[in-house]
Amino acid sequence: MAKKQLRLGAIIHGVGGNVGGWRHPDAITDASVNFGFYKQQAQKAEQGKFDFVFIADGLYITEKSIPHFLNRFEPVTILSALGAVTSNIGLVGTLSTSYSEPFTVSRQFASLDHISGGRAGWNVVTSPLEGSAKNYSRTSHPTHAERYRIAEEYLEVARGLWDSWEDDAFVRDKASGVFFDPSKMHRLNHEGEHFSVQGPLNIARSKQGHPVVFQAGSSEAGRNLAAKSADAVFTHYDTVEEGAAFVQDVKQRAAAYGRSPDEILILPGIGTIIGRTQEEAEQKYEQLTELVTIDKALDYLGRFFEHFDFSQFPLDEPFPELGDLGSNSFQSGTDKIKREAKELGLTLRQVALRSATPKPRYIGTPETVADLIQADFEAGAGDGFIIHATTPTGLDEFVDQVIPILQERGIFRTEYESDTLRGNLGLAIPENRYTAARKVQVHG
Ligand SMILES: Cc1cc2nc3c(=O)[nH]c(=O)nc-3n(C[C@H](O)[C@H](O)[C@H](O)COP(=O)(O)O)c2cc1C
Repeated sequence: MAKKQLRLGAIIHGVGGNVGGWRHPDAITDASVNFGFYKQQAQKAEQGKFDFVFIADGLYITEKSIPHFLNRFEPVTILSALGAVTSNIGLVGTLSTSYSEPFTVSRQFASLDHISGGRAGWNVVTSPLEGSAKNYSRTSHPTHAERYRIAEEYLEVARGLWDSWEDDAFVRDKASGVFFDPSKMHRLNHEGEHFSVQGPLNIARSKQGHPVVFQAGSSEAGRNLAAKSADAVFTHYDTVEEGAAFVQDVKQRAAAYGRSPDEILILPGIGTIIGRTQEEAEQKYEQLTELVTIDKALDYLGRFFEHFDFSQFPLDEPFPELGDLGSNSFQSGTDKIKREAKELGLTLRQVALRSATPKPRYIGTPETVADLIQADFEAGAGDGFIIHATTPTGLDEFVDQVIPILQERGIFRTEYESDTLRGNLGLAIPENRYTAARKVQVHG
C-alpha cells in the first residue's frame, strides 16, 4: 500500500525571520524587496515539488522591528507575480481579517486563484499588533476575543461571496448575445454583527472552487475558528508530543463541527539547518546567534508583548512578572513564553536569546533532518510541515539534499498530482452552495 504522503510548504522570508539574518555572509541584503530572490526561491521550491510557498505579513512596524518587517512585499501582490513564473506550486499569503473588508479580500484571492489556475491560498490571521489600529484609522485595536468573532463572520462572508456564481453561470454565447445566466448569479445579502455585504462578487469561482483557507493562531479561539472553517492550520510546536496533541485537539474540534478529520490539514512551521556533518550544522547555528546582540534580542522579544521595553529590567535576573501583558496580542505565543520562563527558571537574557534565535530541532545532516521530519510525521505531529529554512541558502539545500531522501523513502511526491493547490493537498473542491441546493430540490 502507498505510504501516507507528507505535505510541504516553504516560507519565503526575504532577509530572514531572524534579527541578525541579513548580516549573514550569504544573505542578499535587499532580499525582502528583491523580486529576483522571491522568483528563485519559488522556482526552487517548485523544483522540489513543494505543495506551496508561503508569505507571512504584518501591519505595524517601529524602528525596533526586525529588518525583514521594515521593507517587504505585500503578500497578494508578490504571489500574483510568482504565479506567472511558476506552474504547479501553491501560492499562500497572509491577510488580516481585523483590518480589511471581506468583499475586497475575497475578490483579491479569487483573482489570484484565476491568475494562477487554482493555486491560491489565504492565511487568515487576526493581527496581533495593537499598533495596527493606528495605520487603519481606528481608535483602538479590537480585543483578542473580538478579533476572532470578526474573523468567524468574515470567513462566512468570504465563502458566501466565492459562491456568487455557479460554475456554469457564464454562457458567453456570441450568437444569442447571452453572456450569463441570471439564475446562476446569487446575491449573498449578508447582514451580520460586523459586516453587511450584498454581493454578488465580481469574479467567478476558479478551477479549485475556493482558494484554500489557512488559519494561523493557536489559542482556544484560534483552534475553534480553524476547526469550524479552515482547510489547513499553520502552527508551531516544540516537542513531538505537543505537536501530536495539537493535531488531535484540532481534528476532534473539527469532528464536533461535523467535519471529517481529513478535511483539515495541520501544518506546523519548522526551522531547519543542514550541514555536511552534525558539527557543521551546529556551527551554522552558532554563526547565526553571533549576529544577534542582546539589545536586538530584547527588541525582538518586546514586539510580542505590545512593543514592551524590556531594557528596563536586569538581564541576569529571573524573567519579570508581566501580568496580562501580551494576552491581547500574540496570546498563544506570549502565554508560552511566560510559562516556560517560569517552569525552566529562565533569566530575561535567556528568554530574549531563545526567542530571537531559537535553536531549530531539525538541525544536522540531510539524513538527520529527513529522519526527524519522518519521525514527527509518523508520530502524527502534523499532516506535513511548513519549512522555514533558517539560513539564506537553507531552502536550496533542503530541496537539493533532503527532498531526494524523503522521495526515496516514499513519503514525498516525485511529480505533482495536480496543477491546483487543492488537488496537490488532497482537499476536495467545495461544491457551490446554490448548485448543491438545486440538486437537493431536484432529487428531493
Ligand atoms: C504559526 C503562526 C503564524 C502566524 N502568522 C502570522 C502572520 O503572518 N501575520 C500576522 O499578522 N499574524 C500571524 N500570526 C498571528 C495570529 O494571527 C494571531 O493574531 C496571534 O497568534 C494571536 O492569536 P492566538 O492567541 O490564537 O495564537 C501567526 C500565528 C501563528 C501561531
